[in-house]
Amino acid sequence: MAEQAEIGLIGLGTMGAALALNIAEKGFTVAVFNRTTSVTDKFAAGAGALAERVVPCHSLEALRDAIRPPRAIILMVPAGAPVDDMIEKLRPVLDVQDLVIDAGNADFHDTMRRAEVARAAGQPYLGIGVSGGEEGARHGPSIMGGGEKAGWERVAPVLEAIAAKYEETPCATWMGPDGAGHFVKTVHNGIEYADMQMIAEVYGMMRDGLRLAPDAIGDVFARWNEGPLASYLIEISAEVARTTDPKTGKPVLDVILDRAGQKGTGRWTAIEALHLGAPATAIEAAVAARNLSARLDERKAGEAVFGPAPAPLAGADGMEADLETALLAGKIACYAQGFGLLSEASRNFGWKVPLPEVAKVWRAGCIIRSDMLSDMAEALAGSPDTNLMFAPAFAAKLEASHGALRRVVAAAALAGHPVPALAAALAYFDAMRTARGTANMIQGQRDFFGRHGFERIDAEGAFHGPWAEN
Ligand code: 6PG
Repeated sequence: MAEQAEIGLIGLGTMGAALALNIAEKGFTVAVFNRTTSVTDKFAAGAGALAERVVPCHSLEALRDAIRPPRAIILMVPAGAPVDDMIEKLRPVLDVQDLVIDAGNADFHDTMRRAEVARAAGQPYLGIGVSGGEEGARHGPSIMGGGEKAGWERVAPVLEAIAAKYEETPCATWMGPDGAGHFVKTVHNGIEYADMQMIAEVYGMMRDGLRLAPDAIGDVFARWNEGPLASYLIEISAEVARTTDPKTGKPVLDVILDRAGQKGTGRWTAIEALHLGAPATAIEAAVAARNLSARLDERKAGEAVFGPAPAPLAGADGMEADLETALLAGKIACYAQGFGLLSEASRNFGWKVPLPEVAKVWRAGCIIRSDMLSDMAEALAGSPDTNLMFAPAFAAKLEASHGALRRVVAAAALAGHPVPALAAALAYFDAMRTARGTANMIQGQRDFFGRHGFERIDAEGAFHGPWAEN
């Protein structure tokens, strides 16, 4: 087969197929391979007008021969062992300078390990985070690159062409070496979890506290989408709330079981935050809330014991406006945690992740895209080493919104509405504005029972308390 393709792609599942069509549509010839040959053929046959820029390949050797060297091949296979298996099969077939790009939702630790192996063998390797679901992959995802910069530069023209554009700027950026791209994607997903959870909490307060019907809640979300909360997730929440179930004629929200799934990326964010000592409490709360949602039988048993918790909200006047403002405050706290985690990881792994660029790359194509990210990019550029909550523009927003968050969390607590992510965001805000906290008690306790030592406010060094021998 003649060398004709600019790039190769392995794995024609939903995301891989959409990405391959996107590449072809942007004018690049793409050689494709799927383990199951019939999938490859079916994909090529269904490519329509784009088929002339799709080269179906039935073996890895054929794939290699179809791509112009030095080659670049995108892997879109399920994260984990399938990526390792594919690399093991692919590498012996390729030339040493051929570039392998894992574009799945990899655990960044795996990416770091694979990048290390590749580096030792002199083989270029990239791990890139791709966000935006099927629609994004097909028409413009947000792309977070990681690996050797020279490798990124080789494929940047293709990746920038297929990426979403925010006011002409492609949402495809190199975030740093080895695992940086997949780490940024992981944090994206952690924020995604928290953003979704806070919206769900506010939905619950409207449903059970204000007794609003789903379509009325949809209208509220649609209105909010015209204001400072404008974002993809608010927009789709409005649509979800307004949609009718064709089978029953009921609002679809009323027939969806309240048990959320997860593939693991949000959990990785929380795990990594805990490892790195970066407070990401709203994200952790969102992951825990999904775990809790899965315990449906246990929740049913709890309701049988105590009766249902969420009661109508007292003093509902002004609650709708407070919910909107509380969501805004919660969102700022949650992004502050996400960027704080990124900055910690970047320091720890020596990546130098450009935080303003992260905010920019998330402005279009990805699931957490929102108008506010432009302001965040500006704030992070102006105060790179400061908590986002303290950057002047966001401090002003929080000054104006934390009261509403406080009222919402308090009203929720009093009426029995679980709002773990909003409550975590509020506690984070309050803790981060408190210079004299309460960990002096923890230190006293630690020293009391284990002679762990403590620092004093009035002298340098490590000290012990005058506790009686215990
Ligand atoms: C995206 C999404 C995408 C996907 C994840 C999250 O950025 O396009 O985050 O990667 O939705 O798989 O899914 P879970 O909710 O199942 O963890």
